[in-house]
Amino acid sequence: MDYEKLGKFYLGRPHDLSSGTTAEEPLLYDSKDLTTHAVCVGMTGSGKTGLCVGLLEEAAIDGIPSIVIDPKGDLGNLLLTFPSLRPEDFAPWINEDDARKKGVSAAEYAAAQAELWKKGLAAWGQDGARIQRLHDAADFAVYTPGSSAGIPISILDSFAAPPAAVRDDAELLGDRIATTVTSLLGFVGIRGDAVQSREHILLATILDHEWRQGRDLDLAALIQAVQSPPVAKIGVIDLDAFYPAGDRFGLAMSLNNLLAAPGFSAWLEGEPLDIQNILYTAAGKPRVAIFSIAHLDDSERMFFVSLLLNQVLGWTRSQPGTNSLRALLYMDEIFGYMPPVAEPPSKKPLLTMLKQARAHGVGVVLATQNPVDLDYKGLSNAGTWFIGRLQTERDKMRVLDGLEGAAAGAGRFDRGAMEETLAGLGQRRFLLNNVHEDAPVIFETRWAMSYLRGPMTREQIRQVMAGRKPEAAPATPAAPAPAATPAAAAPAARATSRPVLPPAIPQYFVPARDLPLGAPVEYVPQLLAAGVVHFVDRKHEIDTSEPVTVLAPLADGVVPVDWERVEECSVELDRLETAPAPAAAFAALPGPAAQEKSYAQWKKDFDEWLYRGRKLELFESPAFGRVSEPGESERDFRVRLQHLTREQRDAKLDELRGKFRAKVDSLEERLRKAEQKREKEAQQSKQVKLDTALRIGSTLLGAVLGRSTRASSGTAMRSVTRSWRDAQDVARAEEDIEEIKKDLAELQAEAEREVAELAQRLDPLNEELAKTEVRPRRTDIEVRLLGLAWVPRRG
Ligand SMILES: Nc1ncnc2c1ncn2[C@@H]1O[C@H](COP(=O)(O)OP(=O)(O)O)[C@@H](O)[C@H]1O
Ligand SMILES: [Mg+2]
Repeated sequence: MDYEKLGKFYLGRPHDLSSGTTAEEPLLYDSKDLTTHAVCVGMTGSGKTGLCVGLLEEAAIDGIPSIVIDPKGDLGNLLLTFPSLRPEDFAPWINEDDARKKGVSAAEYAAAQAELWKKGLAAWGQDGARIQRLHDAADFAVYTPGSSAGIPISILDSFAAPPAAVRDDAELLGDRIATTVTSLLGFVGIRGDAVQSREHILLATILDHEWRQGRDLDLAALIQAVQSPPVAKIGVIDLDAFYPAGDRFGLAMSLNNLLAAPGFSAWLEGEPLDIQNILYTAAGKPRVAIFSIAHLDDSERMFFVSLLLNQVLGWTRSQPGTNSLRALLYMDEIFGYMPPVAEPPSKKPLLTMLKQARAHGVGVVLATQNPVDLDYKGLSNAGTWFIGRLQTERDKMRVLDGLEGAAAGAGRFDRGAMEETLAGLGQRRFLLNNVHEDAPVIFETRWAMSYLRGPMTREQIRQVMAGRKPEAAPATPAAPAPAATPAAAAPAARATSRPVLPPAIPQYFVPARDLPLGAPVEYVPQLLAAGVVHFVDRKHEIDTSEPVTVLAPLADGVVPVDWERVEECSVELDRLETAPAPAAAFAALPGPAAQEKSYAQWKKDFDEWLYRGRKLELFESPAFGRVSEPGESERDFRVRLQHLTREQRDAKLDELRGKFRAKVDSLEERLRKAEQKREKEAQQSKQVKLDTALRIGSTLLGAVLGRSTRASSGTAMRSVTRSWRDAQDVARAEEDIEEIKKDLAELQAEAEREVAELAQRLDPLNEELAKTEVRPRRTDIEVRLLGLAWVPRRG
């Protein structure tokens, strides 16, 4: 049985309910179809998680990374894969209660489980070698927000400004703000009428104000901003009338208590919620990232899931458009996160993902045992439905309504027959309804490669992740918002009044916002220089510019500006102020900095410094004939090439499919003609087998391209042969069929060769990349600003 077809997921085998038999050939699912999302419903124990584990395994083998949200703790099972299938591999993970119930020792039970898995896999044409492939194809990790059992997650960055793709879309930004605020307030236990409450409006106003300008916040900065907000009015009402400072202090305290709570530090230490880093390893290998949230309470879960979904949405939106599957978002047991009526903070980002992720190649897969608990809009947006055994009448009715709705326009829908079908489904048997296919199909899920031992405890997660965690990253310090450069290292002599300078010397003041309120401000003089460097390289089609803003310490003496000690200035130019803070003190100004002519010289020096020091380093892939983008890391470039490979493969497959389709169409046409002829000659057989012809076409197509959701070719062929036996043109028709089958076989061989060649030529993960350097020409340097900057330092 050949199920390893390019771009196909092996999910199981077609199953015939009436005879109770499961077919021989595989049921292959077109990976691209997942970009229109999938919903998996079925009662507890129907095999949803098993099916979706299979799906995630297939995706991983195909190099597609996943984000898995795991409320029940089952998905950590994806890390229990044992290529050697030895009893001792299973032993640490067996359910000891089960062994006890069976009255066998743990070792015996482990041996039995190993045997069960080996046999189970074999029955589905799989073995240890395939498990090894799965191992090699991806990295698997369990993340545990709020706990260090798996990889801990730091939520500090979750209040950072979303990417431009989100900021530039007013509706998306509004949703993002609302979700963040609602989940944060829920987390600190402030409920009530969310969107109307003062707390909500104030926090939303702060986030909106800061994010619009691309400024990041963290909890500490947010608390600060609650006390002294960056705005004076809320709408048209004065801030202090709307929400007096004393009351705001109460909110600041609630947030502060959260920060100070003993358990909370667990939320601040760990990997940031950076989706690109989570989906791909440092080397660019795809990762199956499982977010285990079973250990959290309800409000913590909602808080985290909403934050995560927001990050995933932001990442998704910044991915270029594609027709191929790029990544998966899977949520096991969606219950409570996307309900029909209520509006928990997780719902908006989920609905937006369902609406928008497709264009970016991100597929969403949702599983639930309660179809009634799913928002209808969400459901109707899913192109694929996996429907398993259902428990209640209401669930059944809901699903039938959905199917009927989906079938509207696509022909007739036999509700009665469908109801009967659903009633007949057993464990691991699902009805697959895929809008990209002509008809639904019933199938049995294949055996999972992962050992489905069931929910894993925190201790077990710790065990399975031991040795797999990244080097304990130094806990990201809770650095308050952008600080200017560490104020001048060399303490200059104090001077209290601001020096008087020629007006031709421009002066700027770095905002003192980061100093504690009311602290005396002392300014230290530095040289501020800003410029732009252009990089042009015709060969690689590069035309880009890099803005550079630096601060340099100033000193008396022969070398007033030491260009070796220049630091990048993190404050944006338009945030610089033109007047000092009130009652500020000023450090002494080195002599040369008071002279206009010095600045003309420094301008030249800066120009030279940019010219000598700036370069663009790019990676070049000979196999793809592509060059990395400015600022793109080697890892991100490799990730992009991987997706490119997939796009090229999918395009190739589409092209081949088109070719076959044309062949098949001509076959159908010939059959139709023959049939008309026969009609004229013999009137006795009235049943015109038009649909038989169609079936032949589709089966041939399936045989060649793995589109096997239909009857096996044998059956179709036989019925065709029978219906044509007495016709005069049978012989010719059969000849035609034979001929076309031969053609198709040749085409298939050719297609396989082409695709294999493509896969061989392109190995973006391991290809040796060349390095290319682009240096600016003299004329590519532009100095935009040079002046004196006053940088505040702590007194
Ligand atoms: N694909 C599969 N391969 C092997 N065993 C499976 C598979 N699917 C389900 N099972 C078995 O059936 C049990 C219940 O299935 P599960 O997928 O957890 O159901 P659900 O998620 O619908 O509640 C699993 O614990 C496992 O023992
Ligand atoms: Mg389950």
